[in-house]
Amino acid sequence: MLLLNEKEIKSVVTMKEVIEADKKAFRMIANGDVDVPLRTGIKAPAYDAEFLFMPSYAASEDIAAIKVINIFPHNPAQGLNASPAQVMLIDGKTGVIIAMMDGAAVTKLRTGASSGAAFDMLGKKDCRIGGLIGTGGQAPAQLEAMVAVRQLEEVRVFDLNFEQCEKFCERMQKELADYGAKIVPVKSADEATVDADLFITMTPSAKPVFDGTKIKPGCTISCVGTYEPHKHEMDPAVLPRASKIICDHKETALSETDDLLIPIADGIITEADVLGSLGDVIDGRIPGRESDDEIIVYETVGVGSQDLMAAKLIYEKAVEAGVGTVWE
Ligand SMILES: NC(=O)c1ccc[n+]([C@@H]2O[C@H](COP(=O)([O-])OP(=O)(O)OC[C@H]3O[C@@H](n4cnc5c(N)ncnc54)[C@H](O)[C@@H]3O)[C@@H](O)[C@H]2O)c1
Repeated sequence: MLLLNEKEIKSVVTMKEVIEADKKAFRMIANGDVDVPLRTGIKAPAYDAEFLFMPSYAASEDIAAIKVINIFPHNPAQGLNASPAQVMLIDGKTGVIIAMMDGAAVTKLRTGASSGAAFDMLGKKDCRIGGLIGTGGQAPAQLEAMVAVRQLEEVRVFDLNFEQCEKFCERMQKELADYGAKIVPVKSADEATVDADLFITMTPSAKPVFDGTKIKPGCTISCVGTYEPHKHEMDPAVLPRASKIICDHKETALSETDDLLIPIADGIITEADVLGSLGDVIDGRIPGRESDDEIIVYETVGVGSQDLMAAKLIYEKAVEAGVGTVWE
Protein backbone atom coordinates (compact mmCIF):
# COMPACT_ATOMS: atom_id res chain seq x y z
CA MET A 1 0.00 0.00 0.00
CA LEU A 2 1.26 3.44 -0.93
CA LEU A 3 0.99 6.19 1.71
CA LEU A 4 0.74 9.74 0.38
CA ASN A 5 0.76 12.95 2.40
CA GLU A 6 -0.43 16.39 1.25
CA LYS A 7 2.97 17.56 0.02
CA GLU A 8 3.48 14.40 -2.01
CA ILE A 9 -0.04 14.64 -3.48
CA LYS A 10 0.50 18.23 -4.56
CA SER A 11 3.88 17.38 -6.07
CA VAL A 12 2.51 14.75 -8.48
CA VAL A 13 -0.64 16.35 -9.95
CA THR A 14 -1.51 19.70 -11.51
CA MET A 15 -4.83 21.49 -11.07
CA LYS A 16 -5.52 21.10 -14.79
CA GLU A 17 -5.14 17.32 -14.50
CA VAL A 18 -7.51 17.19 -11.51
CA ILE A 19 -10.03 19.29 -13.46
CA GLU A 20 -9.99 16.66 -16.21
CA ALA A 21 -10.41 13.89 -13.57
CA ASP A 22 -13.40 15.79 -12.14
CA LYS A 23 -14.95 16.13 -15.60
CA LYS A 24 -14.69 12.38 -16.01
CA ALA A 25 -16.20 11.88 -12.53
CA PHE A 26 -19.16 14.14 -13.43
CA ARG A 27 -19.76 12.29 -16.70
CA MET A 28 -19.63 8.96 -14.84
CA ILE A 29 -22.19 10.00 -12.23
CA ALA A 30 -24.51 11.55 -14.84
CA ASN A 31 -24.32 8.34 -16.89
CA GLY A 32 -24.82 5.98 -13.93
CA ASP A 33 -21.32 4.52 -14.46
CA VAL A 34 -20.33 4.74 -10.81
CA ASP A 35 -21.85 3.27 -7.69
CA VAL A 36 -21.98 5.94 -4.97
CA PRO A 37 -24.15 4.78 -2.04
CA LEU A 38 -25.41 7.50 0.31
CA ARG A 39 -22.74 8.45 2.81
CA THR A 40 -23.05 6.90 6.26
CA GLY A 41 -22.90 9.29 9.20
CA ILE A 42 -22.46 8.32 12.85
CA LYS A 43 -22.96 11.10 15.38
CA ALA A 44 -20.65 11.57 18.36
CA PRO A 45 -22.80 13.93 20.46
CA ALA A 46 -20.31 14.22 23.32
CA TYR A 47 -18.07 16.18 20.94
CA ASP A 48 -20.80 17.75 18.72
CA ALA A 49 -19.12 15.60 16.10
CA GLU A 50 -19.86 13.19 13.29
CA PHE A 51 -17.94 10.41 11.51
CA LEU A 52 -18.69 10.30 7.78
CA PHE A 53 -17.98 7.31 5.50
CA MET A 54 -18.22 7.88 1.75
CA PRO A 55 -17.76 4.79 -0.45
CA SER A 56 -17.65 4.64 -4.26
CA TYR A 57 -17.00 2.01 -6.95
CA ALA A 58 -16.52 2.28 -10.71
CA ALA A 59 -16.63 -1.16 -12.36
CA SER A 60 -15.60 0.29 -15.73
CA GLU A 61 -12.39 1.64 -14.16
CA ASP A 62 -11.81 -1.35 -11.83
CA ILE A 63 -11.40 0.99 -8.88
CA ALA A 64 -13.13 1.62 -5.55
CA ALA A 65 -12.51 4.06 -2.71
CA ILE A 66 -13.79 5.11 0.66
CA LYS A 67 -13.26 8.54 2.10
CA VAL A 68 -13.48 8.85 5.86
CA ILE A 69 -13.96 12.43 6.94
CA ASN A 70 -14.76 13.27 10.54
CA ILE A 71 -16.30 16.60 11.51
CA PHE A 72 -15.00 17.62 14.95
CA PRO A 73 -15.77 21.34 15.31
CA HIS A 74 -13.92 21.77 18.63
CA ASN A 75 -10.63 20.39 17.29
CA PRO A 76 -9.11 23.78 16.35
CA ALA A 77 -9.14 24.80 20.05
CA GLN A 78 -6.65 21.93 20.58
CA GLY A 79 -4.63 22.88 17.53
CA LEU A 80 -6.13 20.02 15.51
CA ASN A 81 -7.80 19.97 12.08
CA ALA A 82 -11.63 20.26 12.38
CA SER A 83 -12.19 17.67 9.65
CA PRO A 84 -9.49 14.98 9.62
CA ALA A 85 -9.81 12.74 6.56
CA GLN A 86 -8.21 9.91 4.60
CA VAL A 87 -9.02 8.32 1.26
CA MET A 88 -8.43 4.58 0.89
CA LEU A 89 -8.05 3.45 -2.74
CA ILE A 90 -8.91 -0.14 -3.65
CA ASP A 91 -7.98 -2.21 -6.72
CA GLY A 92 -11.32 -3.24 -8.23
CA LYS A 93 -9.89 -6.48 -9.71
CA THR A 94 -8.49 -7.90 -6.46
CA GLY A 95 -9.97 -5.87 -3.61
CA VAL A 96 -6.43 -5.09 -2.45
CA ILE A 97 -6.08 -1.68 -0.78
CA ILE A 98 -3.45 0.03 -2.90
CA ALA A 99 -3.19 3.47 -1.33
CA MET A 100 -4.05 5.63 1.65
CA MET A 101 -3.82 9.35 1.05
CA ASP A 102 -4.49 12.60 2.87
CA GLY A 103 -8.23 13.03 2.43
CA ALA A 104 -8.25 16.74 3.19
CA ALA A 105 -5.77 17.32 0.35
CA VAL A 106 -7.84 15.20 -2.05
CA THR A 107 -11.01 17.07 -1.01
CA LYS A 108 -9.47 20.50 -1.57
CA LEU A 109 -8.12 19.53 -5.00
CA ARG A 110 -11.28 17.84 -6.28
CA THR A 111 -13.51 20.63 -4.89
CA GLY A 112 -11.39 23.34 -6.52
CA ALA A 113 -11.43 21.30 -9.71
CA SER A 114 -15.23 21.24 -9.61
CA SER A 115 -15.31 25.03 -10.01
CA GLY A 116 -12.57 24.72 -12.63
CA ALA A 117 -14.54 22.15 -14.63
CA ALA A 118 -17.68 24.31 -14.46
CA PHE A 119 -15.83 27.48 -15.52
CA ASP A 120 -14.12 25.62 -18.33
CA MET A 121 -17.45 24.28 -19.65
CA LEU A 122 -19.73 27.23 -18.86
CA GLY A 123 -17.53 30.35 -18.63
CA LYS A 124 -17.23 32.95 -21.38
CA LYS A 125 -14.17 32.42 -23.57
CA ASP A 126 -12.98 35.94 -22.77
CA CYS A 127 -12.90 36.45 -18.99
CA ARG A 128 -10.79 39.16 -17.36
CA ILE A 129 -11.91 39.57 -13.74
CA GLY A 130 -12.51 36.95 -11.07
CA GLY A 131 -14.28 37.31 -7.72
CA LEU A 132 -13.87 35.04 -4.68
CA ILE A 133 -15.71 35.17 -1.36
CA GLY A 134 -14.26 33.15 1.52
CA THR A 135 -10.56 32.60 2.24
CA GLY A 136 -10.67 29.50 4.44
CA GLY A 137 -9.11 26.08 3.98
CA GLN A 138 -10.76 25.34 0.63
CA ALA A 139 -10.03 28.71 -0.95
CA PRO A 140 -6.48 28.19 -2.35
CA ALA A 141 -7.56 25.34 -4.63
CA GLN A 142 -10.66 27.31 -5.69
CA LEU A 143 -8.56 30.29 -6.66
CA GLU A 144 -6.06 28.14 -8.52
CA ALA A 145 -8.82 26.38 -10.48
CA MET A 146 -10.27 29.75 -11.50
CA VAL A 147 -7.00 31.09 -12.88
CA ALA A 148 -6.04 27.73 -14.40
CA VAL A 149 -8.96 27.67 -16.87
CA ARG A 150 -9.07 31.34 -17.97
CA GLN A 151 -6.28 33.90 -18.35
CA LEU A 152 -7.54 36.44 -15.76
CA GLU A 153 -6.03 39.88 -15.19
CA GLU A 154 -7.27 40.23 -11.62
CA VAL A 155 -9.12 38.32 -8.91
CA ARG A 156 -10.86 40.36 -6.20
CA VAL A 157 -11.10 38.51 -2.91
CA PHE A 158 -13.36 39.21 0.06
CA ASP A 159 -13.63 37.64 3.52
CA LEU A 160 -15.36 38.89 6.67
CA ASN A 161 -11.92 38.65 8.26
CA PHE A 162 -10.00 41.29 6.28
CA GLU A 163 -6.65 40.61 7.90
CA GLN A 164 -6.89 36.95 6.93
CA CYS A 165 -8.00 38.00 3.45
CA GLU A 166 -4.92 40.20 3.00
CA LYS A 167 -2.59 37.40 4.15
CA PHE A 168 -4.34 34.94 1.85
CA CYS A 169 -3.92 37.24 -1.17
CA GLU A 170 -0.27 37.88 -0.38
CA ARG A 171 0.45 34.16 -0.08
CA MET A 172 -1.54 33.17 -3.17
CA GLN A 173 0.04 35.93 -5.27
CA LYS A 174 3.37 34.15 -4.70
CA GLU A 175 2.06 30.58 -5.05
CA LEU A 176 0.09 31.28 -8.23
CA ALA A 177 2.54 33.79 -9.77
CA ASP A 178 2.95 31.66 -12.92
CA TYR A 179 -0.72 32.16 -13.85
CA GLY A 180 -0.17 35.93 -14.12
CA ALA A 181 -3.32 37.18 -12.36
CA LYS A 182 -3.23 39.96 -9.78
CA ILE A 183 -4.80 38.76 -6.49
CA VAL A 184 -6.38 41.72 -4.70
CA PRO A 185 -8.04 41.84 -1.25
CA VAL A 186 -11.20 43.99 -1.21
CA LYS A 187 -13.21 45.37 1.71
CA SER A 188 -16.75 44.49 0.61
CA ALA A 189 -18.58 41.62 -1.06
CA ASP A 190 -19.85 44.10 -3.69
CA GLU A 191 -16.31 44.93 -4.79
CA ALA A 192 -15.66 41.23 -5.39
CA THR A 193 -19.00 40.82 -7.17
CA VAL A 194 -19.72 43.66 -9.60
CA ASP A 195 -17.09 43.13 -12.31
CA ALA A 196 -16.59 39.40 -11.98
CA ASP A 197 -16.70 37.23 -15.10
CA LEU A 198 -16.00 34.18 -12.90
CA PHE A 199 -17.23 34.23 -9.32
CA ILE A 200 -16.87 31.73 -6.45
CA THR A 201 -18.54 31.63 -3.04
CA MET A 202 -16.72 29.37 -0.58
CA THR A 203 -18.11 29.98 2.91
CA PRO A 204 -20.12 28.05 5.51
CA SER A 205 -22.53 31.01 5.77
CA ALA A 206 -26.16 30.46 6.74
CA LYS A 207 -27.21 33.60 4.87
CA PRO A 208 -26.38 34.97 1.40
CA VAL A 209 -22.85 36.36 1.09
CA PHE A 210 -23.35 38.54 -2.02
CA ASP A 211 -26.01 40.67 -3.68
CA GLY A 212 -27.41 38.73 -6.64
CA THR A 213 -28.67 41.90 -8.33
CA LYS A 214 -25.05 43.04 -8.70
CA ILE A 215 -23.80 40.06 -10.69
CA LYS A 216 -22.97 41.29 -14.19
CA PRO A 217 -24.29 39.74 -17.41
CA GLY A 218 -21.96 37.02 -18.68
CA CYS A 219 -20.81 35.95 -15.22
CA THR A 220 -20.48 32.28 -14.28
CA ILE A 221 -20.98 31.69 -10.56
CA SER A 222 -19.79 28.64 -8.67
CA CYS A 223 -21.41 28.21 -5.25
CA VAL A 224 -19.31 25.72 -3.34
CA GLY A 225 -19.73 26.25 0.39
CA THR A 226 -23.27 25.00 0.82
CA TYR A 227 -23.69 21.24 0.88
CA GLU A 228 -25.83 20.97 3.97
CA PRO A 229 -29.45 22.06 4.44
CA HIS A 230 -28.69 24.71 7.10
CA LYS A 231 -26.19 26.57 4.93
CA HIS A 232 -27.31 29.11 2.35
CA GLU A 233 -24.68 31.39 0.84
CA MET A 234 -26.22 32.07 -2.59
CA ASP A 235 -28.45 35.13 -2.95
CA PRO A 236 -31.71 33.82 -4.51
CA ALA A 237 -32.04 37.18 -6.31
CA VAL A 238 -29.51 35.92 -8.86
CA LEU A 239 -31.58 32.88 -9.81
CA PRO A 240 -34.33 34.56 -11.89
CA ARG A 241 -31.52 36.48 -13.67
CA ALA A 242 -29.70 33.25 -14.53
CA SER A 243 -30.40 31.63 -17.88
CA LYS A 244 -29.14 28.28 -16.62
CA ILE A 245 -28.75 26.61 -13.24
CA ILE A 246 -26.47 23.58 -13.42
CA CYS A 247 -25.30 21.29 -10.59
CA ASP A 248 -22.38 18.94 -10.20
CA HIS A 249 -25.11 16.28 -9.80
CA LYS A 250 -28.69 17.50 -9.89
CA GLU A 251 -30.27 14.78 -7.74
CA THR A 252 -27.65 15.06 -5.00
CA ALA A 253 -27.77 18.87 -4.99
CA LEU A 254 -31.56 18.89 -4.78
CA SER A 255 -31.44 16.55 -1.79
CA GLU A 256 -28.82 18.55 0.11
CA THR A 257 -28.49 22.25 -0.44
CA ASP A 258 -30.59 25.13 0.80
CA ASP A 259 -29.01 27.29 -1.91
CA LEU A 260 -31.61 25.61 -4.14
CA LEU A 261 -34.16 24.15 -1.71
CA ILE A 262 -35.06 27.51 -0.11
CA PRO A 263 -35.66 29.34 -3.44
CA ILE A 264 -37.72 26.35 -4.64
CA ALA A 265 -39.80 26.38 -1.41
CA ASP A 266 -40.24 30.17 -1.77
CA GLY A 267 -41.43 29.81 -5.37
CA ILE A 268 -38.50 31.82 -6.79
CA ILE A 269 -37.56 28.90 -9.03
CA THR A 270 -38.98 25.42 -9.64
CA GLU A 271 -37.11 22.12 -9.72
CA ALA A 272 -37.49 22.21 -13.50
CA ASP A 273 -35.44 25.42 -13.63
CA VAL A 274 -32.47 23.38 -12.40
CA LEU A 275 -31.44 22.26 -15.85
CA GLY A 276 -29.26 19.28 -14.99
CA SER A 277 -25.79 18.02 -14.12
CA LEU A 278 -22.41 19.19 -15.41
CA GLY A 279 -21.83 15.69 -16.89
CA ASP A 280 -24.90 16.26 -19.11
CA VAL A 281 -23.33 19.49 -20.39
CA ILE A 282 -19.98 17.76 -21.00
CA ASP A 283 -21.73 14.97 -22.94
CA GLY A 284 -23.86 17.47 -24.91
CA ARG A 285 -27.25 16.32 -23.57
CA ILE A 286 -28.01 19.80 -22.28
CA PRO A 287 -26.60 23.04 -23.67
CA GLY A 288 -23.78 24.95 -22.05
CA ARG A 289 -23.24 28.68 -22.57
CA GLU A 290 -25.03 30.00 -25.65
CA SER A 291 -24.19 33.71 -25.43
CA ASP A 292 -21.71 36.04 -23.71
CA ASP A 293 -24.54 37.76 -21.81
CA GLU A 294 -25.90 34.76 -19.97
CA ILE A 295 -25.54 34.50 -16.21
CA ILE A 296 -24.97 30.85 -15.39
CA VAL A 297 -25.17 29.49 -11.83
CA TYR A 298 -23.29 26.33 -10.91
CA GLU A 299 -24.05 24.65 -7.59
CA THR A 300 -21.59 22.04 -6.37
CA VAL A 301 -22.18 19.91 -3.29
CA GLY A 302 -19.45 17.34 -3.94
CA VAL A 303 -19.92 13.74 -5.10
CA GLY A 304 -18.01 10.55 -4.27
CA SER A 305 -16.97 9.94 -7.88
CA GLN A 306 -14.77 13.07 -7.64
CA ASP A 307 -12.83 11.58 -4.72
CA LEU A 308 -12.56 8.26 -6.57
CA MET A 309 -11.25 9.70 -9.84
CA ALA A 310 -8.96 12.26 -8.17
CA ALA A 311 -7.47 9.58 -5.90
CA LYS A 312 -6.96 7.24 -8.87
CA LEU A 313 -5.15 9.97 -10.80
CA ILE A 314 -2.98 10.87 -7.78
CA TYR A 315 -2.08 7.21 -7.18
CA GLU A 316 -1.14 6.57 -10.81
CA LYS A 317 0.98 9.71 -11.03
CA ALA A 318 2.68 8.94 -7.69
CA VAL A 319 3.57 5.41 -8.81
CA GLU A 320 4.92 6.80 -12.09
CA ALA A 321 7.05 9.37 -10.23
CA GLY A 322 8.15 6.98 -7.46
CA VAL A 323 6.68 9.29 -4.80
CA GLY A 324 5.21 8.16 -1.44
CA THR A 325 5.99 5.60 1.24
CA VAL A 326 5.37 1.92 0.54
CA TRP A 327 3.79 0.21 3.57
CA GLU A 328 4.47 -3.53 3.40
N1 LIG B 1 -19.11 21.57 -2.19
C1 LIG B 1 -18.12 20.81 -1.76
O1 LIG B 1 -17.75 19.81 -2.41
C2 LIG B 1 -17.40 21.18 -0.49
C3 LIG B 1 -16.21 20.51 -0.16
C4 LIG B 1 -15.54 20.88 0.98
C5 LIG B 1 -16.05 21.87 1.82
N2 LIG B 1 -17.24 22.48 1.49
C6 LIG B 1 -17.80 23.56 2.32
O2 LIG B 1 -17.17 24.78 1.94
C7 LIG B 1 -17.29 25.74 3.00
C8 LIG B 1 -15.98 26.45 3.22
O3 LIG B 1 -15.01 25.51 3.63
P1 LIG B 1 -13.61 25.99 4.28
O4 LIG B 1 -12.94 24.76 4.75
O5 LIG B 1 -12.89 26.86 3.32
O6 LIG B 1 -14.17 26.82 5.51
P2 LIG B 1 -13.37 27.69 6.57
O7 LIG B 1 -14.18 27.66 7.80
O8 LIG B 1 -11.93 27.28 6.59
O9 LIG B 1 -13.41 29.17 5.92
C9 LIG B 1 -14.60 29.85 5.66
C10 LIG B 1 -14.27 31.32 5.42
O10 LIG B 1 -15.47 31.97 5.02
C11 LIG B 1 -15.48 33.25 5.63
N3 LIG B 1 -16.86 33.73 5.67
C12 LIG B 1 -17.90 33.22 6.36
N4 LIG B 1 -19.02 33.96 6.13
C13 LIG B 1 -18.67 34.91 5.25
C14 LIG B 1 -19.37 35.97 4.61
N5 LIG B 1 -20.67 36.18 4.86
N6 LIG B 1 -18.69 36.78 3.77
C15 LIG B 1 -17.36 36.58 3.54
N7 LIG B 1 -16.65 35.60 4.11
C16 LIG B 1 -17.29 34.78 4.95
C17 LIG B 1 -14.86 33.03 7.00
O11 LIG B 1 -14.38 34.24 7.54
C18 LIG B 1 -13.76 32.03 6.66
O12 LIG B 1 -12.54 32.67 6.34
C19 LIG B 1 -17.80 24.94 4.20
O13 LIG B 1 -19.18 25.17 4.34
C20 LIG B 1 -17.52 23.51 3.80
O14 LIG B 1 -18.39 22.62 4.45
C21 LIG B 1 -17.90 22.17 0.34
